[in-house]
Amino acid sequence: MSVTILGIESSCDDTSSAVITNGVLRSNLISSQEVHRQYGGVVPELASRAHQASIIPVVDGALRAAGIGMDAIDAVAFTQGPGLLGSLLVGVSFAKGLALSRRVPLLAVNHLQGHVLSHFIRDTATAPLPQLPLLCLLVSGGHTQLIVVRSPHDMQIVGQTIDDAAGEAFDKCAKVMGLPYPGGPVIDRLAQQGDPSAFAFARPSVDGLNYSFSGLKTSFLYTLRDQLRSNPSFIDERRADLCASLQRTIIDILLRKLERAAQRYGIVDVAIAGGVSANSGLRTALAQLGERRGWRVYLPPLRYTTDNAAMIAIAGHYKYQRGEFARLDVAPQPRMGTLC
Ligand code: KG4
Ligand code: ZN
Repeated sequence: MSVTILGIESSCDDTSSAVITNGVLRSNLISSQEVHRQYGGVVPELASRAHQASIIPVVDGALRAAGIGMDAIDAVAFTQGPGLLGSLLVGVSFAKGLALSRRVPLLAVNHLQGHVLSHFIRDTATAPLPQLPLLCLLVSGGHTQLIVVRSPHDMQIVGQTIDDAAGEAFDKCAKVMGLPYPGGPVIDRLAQQGDPSAFAFARPSVDGLNYSFSGLKTSFLYTLRDQLRSNPSFIDERRADLCASLQRTIIDILLRKLERAAQRYGIVDVAIAGGVSANSGLRTALAQLGERRGWRVYLPPLRYTTDNAAMIAIAGHYKYQRGEFARLDVAPQPRMGTLC
């Protein structure tokens, strides 16, 4: 039996819709909201309004790109959380309306589970899937987690940040340097011309497999403040070195715990996911570490690193197989704990 899932993602500032048939991707459309750039961060009220305006064109575009009509959809998967309440509400309400009118079931997906399952999106039916168990470092704008993936339905968070997320560290440090939002990709680009050992920033000492990034952010801020006192053009003169050193520190912090987790759980299949997994320095450093350690390393294609509906549709695909349907009174959950 053929199963076609329509996926909808609206948790933050990207409106996205995708179509997956039998686990194979047919289309994935993303409309990124530019309106937030001028404010240096996502403005929740504006994000909800932009989702409201773009959701129909985006879903329509995803169906067209897949070459199907509404009548071909067997279920609607949507992001239930975590995310911004107003943004989530647009996607949840739209999914409900569609499911009601087409008389098809609803699949409520955890956004973070979606990021992990981006490694299970296939463009062809014969493309290989990651070997399990998989250790996945999920690094996004709001989360930093180490996850042991035993199956698409069985994921365990074994470590996470106790304060800021890695993406937040990139974005906040970029902001104090006067760089545009989101800062991660800008730092990535500038770091390529800088010296990663030019500056030393504080590295946290957190027990076990947990992370902390707030100390690094403060240390970065203090370095700027001290240097600017004697040299007002310090940031302009040393921007590339600052970016390279900051990025190197974030990568070191991330990989040290990833290595520890792989050892503790005896896992040799290692992946990264989420927006920060697009970082070129992190990708290279992980590939090198994997070679030294004898891991099979999974780097997501760049198009599946930041928010997209393909990952929501593939998570929906696995939920559909198990008959895990949501009720019509399902509500958005801005803070969602467990992954599956
Ligand atoms: O997964 P995502 O699109 O949204 C959330 O679910 O949060 O991640 C967004 C985050 C932002 O913090 C952004 O700065 C970061 O991913 N990011 C990057 C890069 N591309 C996106 N950080 C570092 N290097 C990049 N190339
Ligand atoms: Zn995300």
